[in-house]
Amino acid sequence: MTTNALDAAETPRLLLDAARMQANCVRMRDRVRALGPRFRPHVKTAKSLDVTRAMLGAPTGPITVSTLREADTFASHGFTDITYAVGITPNKLAHARALVARGIDLTLILDSVEAARAVRDAVAGDARAPQVLIEIDTDDHRAGVRPDDPALLAIAAVLADGPARLQGVLTHAGGAYDCRGDDALRAMAEQERAGAVHAAQRLRAAGHAAPVVSVGSTPTALFARDLGGVTEVRAGVYVFFDLVMAGLGVCAADDIALSVETTVVGHRAEKGWTLVDAGWMALSRDRGTAGQPVDQGYGLVCDARGRPLDGFIVVAANQEHGTIAHRSGDPTRRLDLPVGAVLRILPNHACATAAQFDRYHVLDAQGAVAAQWPRFGGW
Ligand SMILES: Cc1ncc(COP(=O)(O)O)c(C=O)c1O
Repeated sequence: MTTNALDAAETPRLLLDAARMQANCVRMRDRVRALGPRFRPHVKTAKSLDVTRAMLGAPTGPITVSTLREADTFASHGFTDITYAVGITPNKLAHARALVARGIDLTLILDSVEAARAVRDAVAGDARAPQVLIEIDTDDHRAGVRPDDPALLAIAAVLADGPARLQGVLTHAGGAYDCRGDDALRAMAEQERAGAVHAAQRLRAAGHAAPVVSVGSTPTALFARDLGGVTEVRAGVYVFFDLVMAGLGVCAADDIALSVETTVVGHRAEKGWTLVDAGWMALSRDRGTAGQPVDQGYGLVCDARGRPLDGFIVVAANQEHGTIAHRSGDPTRRLDLPVGAVLRILPNHACATAAQFDRYHVLDAQGAVAAQWPRFGGW
């Protein structure tokens, strides 16, 4: 080991390439601006004030959160317009009401009469109430009522009865992650738009106010050609991008702003393996590229400067060990690096990998760590 290596920073560390992140932020903001709706970035990927400000290009602004913990944290830093985009449940209503009581313009989502009744009854005597969006399922992927489901109007009728103000609809076409090819992504973006707009029109036709039509995922936001009738777009993972997005053709590997810095701990030359100190505790267990045409294992291996080492991936991950090998399985094609050598791994899924760390080591244009930005987790 060289003196240099002895002086090197401990790994694994989460590196954030600031220039790539800024470029990703500008790309998405420009795209949404060109399409017309307002932008409400999803902060679940980053869970960081610094990154969120870069997403907004402003100190505060409208945001989407995936936990009430995120809502609390951002509320404490001057963010007042917050949409909590996971279906609300009775056991979180006290928390939601506390946010509203402290002046937050909080929007909740729900997709059942049951949940609508729970919200209506919980806020019945409150001076200020949260706003509500009905979640719409536009892609058969996860939660929500179908745009033409009679339940949509039944839910609206329950809310019309109480102080929680129905504002419209929200949908997330997560099914875009399973699309193959640009045409399929464009079609999914249009399906997301059309379904949400149709649901809002049904609400309006039944006499309900539905000023908000909220759509979004990174692939659909970047592939939508027209967002007529949509009032806001949400997207999150684009801020860092990842191998899943690159596999979809939504970004290039060179756009990925996040990587895990790792150190070689040993070899199994006869197997073609290089062992590193980034296992699943650092990379996460996400195997999002497994179903894509190019399976990237647990991550794509790069040199210490972030340049991909052609064909090398993390083929196995234990808690604190990652096993690097050539994707061909040919043991003669192995990395010839000493113990202590530093590599970087590009993540399959930026949200999951970032969640393993409590901070970002932010790289400047020279590739040096210029800052550390805290990130938070939990609920
Ligand atoms: C409700 C909702 N909206 C928006 C997003 C953002 O999607 P993406 O990370 O693809 O930008 C997500 C991501 O999971 C989501 O669950």
